[in-house]
Amino acid sequence: METAMTRLTVELGARSYPILIGEGLLDELGAHVAPLLKRPRTMIVTDTHVADAYLAKVGAALGAEGISFSSLVLPAGEATKSWEGLARLTEWLIGEGVERSDHVIALGGGVIGDLVGFACSIVKRGCAFIQVPTTLLAQVDSSVGGKTAINVPAGKNLIGAFHQPALVVIDPATLTTLPRRELGAGYAEVVKYGLIDDADFFAWCEANGAALLAGDAAARAYAIAHSVAAKARIVAADERETQDIRALLNLGHGLCSAADAERVRAHLASVDLPHSLASAGINAGGAALAAHMAHDKKVRGGKLPLILTRGIGQSFVTDEYGLDSVADFLDAQAG
Ligand SMILES: NC(=O)c1ccc[n+]([C@@H]2O[C@H](COP(=O)([O-])OP(=O)(O)OC[C@H]3O[C@@H](n4cnc5c(N)ncnc54)[C@H](O)[C@@H]3O)[C@@H](O)[C@H]2O)c1
Repeated sequence: METAMTRLTVELGARSYPILIGEGLLDELGAHVAPLLKRPRTMIVTDTHVADAYLAKVGAALGAEGISFSSLVLPAGEATKSWEGLARLTEWLIGEGVERSDHVIALGGGVIGDLVGFACSIVKRGCAFIQVPTTLLAQVDSSVGGKTAINVPAGKNLIGAFHQPALVVIDPATLTTLPRRELGAGYAEVVKYGLIDDADFFAWCEANGAALLAGDAAARAYAIAHSVAAKARIVAADERETQDIRALLNLGHGLCSAADAERVRAHLASVDLPHSLASAGINAGGAALAAHMAHDKKVRGGKLPLILTRGIGQSFVTDEYGLDSVADFLDAQAG
């Protein structure tokens, strides 16, 4: 039986690609991947946790369409997004005889997606890849848009490239095995889309967020499709973050009416997400935090663009506040 599926497109001219969303889609992965392949062979890259839960299922789905595959299972965790992880993956791909027309499958969260995307942007000067995100964060954010990167000692995501996937396949059923903490991290990204420019969606989150986090499949499917559609629109309008549109996705904290700020705090607190510096486990002073922010790769001409919001659904980008104001603001929040 075919899965009920939502199909969205990231409109990027010749580099446009579909995003398929549906419960149970992992079982049909082979059917969606087969039309892209020049030879019936692929390489799957995943991590230890995801391999335990889903590698056999994905392998069976590919096998059902006559697609052979090899797989590389990397250690789970952020440390895999590193020079060492990149070296191991690129050398494995070359050892497997990857061809430029092959499609490598990234099966996992944002760590696997970012690492595989970057490896595929450089191996043999670029091969194609398919995102099969299995965390809520990767499903609503990192798998779409083509930002790929690894972390280096100087900072997170400092070495990377824009490399769009050829296809994104999202099966919300994978969230049933995701630890609650990881679900919460993804849900914070969902709420962000409401804060950016969609007050109605924020209200939807207030009404349905708890059910989503408790496992309501319809709420998950709706939130994922709505979030991905927002991300796809933003990426299509500003693929490389050269305008301020895509920068809105970096929204971190707000500057809005006390009532709206309280509404956001109350919603985040109600679903056990950090809603203050203290609840995020941060106890450094404003000056120390601002000094850290000065190293952000988004600093332009010595100024860090801030994504602020005048109210729910009304965010904007500005560089009119210096880091000293940021330090004062953070101290005021902590006080
Ligand atoms: N490229 C982008 O646009 C973009 C956007 C946001 C974040 N990111 C990056 O994403 C990364 C974080 O991604 P993440 O939060 O998905 O982390 P992650 O990939 O480390 O996954 C979190 C944990 O969940 C496990 N896991 C994944 N899917 C699972 C499942 N279905 N069931 C059980 N366990 C599962 C993983 O093994 C890992 O232990 C960061 O490196 C961040 O920089 C990239």
